Order: sequence, then structure tokens, then C-alpha cells
Amino acid sequence: MKQALLNLIKNAQAAMTGGGTLTIKTALRDGQIDIQVRDTGAGISEGNIAKIFEPYFTTKKTGSGLGLTLVFKIVREHQGEITVKSKEGEGARFTITLPIPQKERRLITFESGEDNAI
Ligand SMILES: Nc1ncnc2c1ncn2[C@@H]1O[C@H](COP(=O)(O)OP(=O)(O)OP(=O)(O)O)[C@@H](O)[C@H]1O
Ligand SMILES: [Mg+2]
Repeated sequence: MKQALLNLIKNAQAAMTGGGTLTIKTALRDGQIDIQVRDTGAGISEGNIAKIFEPYFTTKKTGSGLGLTLVFKIVREHQGEITVKSKEGEGARFTITLPIPQKERRLITFESGEDNAI
């Protein structure tokens, strides 16, 4: 999860070459955790937004295009979801939603007492 956030932060930083604001917010909502990474950078065009999670999709000279693919995989491995909202020229907002694990149910219960002879 640390790697996922790092990838989002690096992308945000790269999108704000002329300066800007990076906002990271967390919230507890309906039994879920929201982690939002928002920047005020270049934003993503309508044509590109559907492709950004695809492996090797990049608009950068030296990008691998694997950063967001990995983010997606990490989030899914935590049973979470990731959404993106962006407008070209106005920045981008990535939101990771993670479920809060419910109290684990024990599969085997142990009882103690005298009439527990096997
Ligand atoms: N915060 C953002 N603002 C604007 N565009 C973004 C943002 N995050 C991702 N993108 C777009 O999505 C593309 C894919 O991102 P991804 O992180 O997968 O690869 P990359 O950043 O190009 O390369 P790498 O992560 O390997 O350095 C980027 O090239 C960029 O066009
Ligand atoms: Mg990247």
C-alpha cells in the first residue's frame, strides 16, 4: 500500500512541473476507508483516462507505464477499489476505497471444562 501511494504521489508531482498543490486525505465512510490523492496539475484528457491503468500506457518520455497498473493490482489485492476523476488542465483526483475487515470469525471454538473428555 505504501508503494501504491508512492506511485500516485510521484505521478501527481510529475503532473505539476509548474508548481501546484498535492492533497492527501483520508476518511472513514460507511464502514470503508477512503484515501484520496489529489493534484492541481496538467490533468488527464478524456481520450487517455480510460487507458491510464493499462500496462505500458504512458505519456512520459521515460515512463514505463507500469506505475498505475501496479497501484490497481495492489488495491485489488486488498479487496479495494480505485477511481479517478480528472479534467485536462485542472488536475486529477485518485480515490482508493478499502474495506475494513470485519471481526474474524473463529472456525474452531475451544471450550474448557470438566466434561470435555475426548
Ligand atoms: N496525477 C496525474 N496527472 C496527470 N496525468 C496522470 C496522473 N497520473 C497518471 N497520469 C497519466 O497516466 C499515465 C500512466 O501513469 P503510470 O503511473 O502508469 O505510468 P508513468 O507515470 O507514465 O510511468 P512510471 O510510473 O513507470 O514512471 C501517465 O503517463 C500520465 O499520462
Ligand atoms: Mg507513474
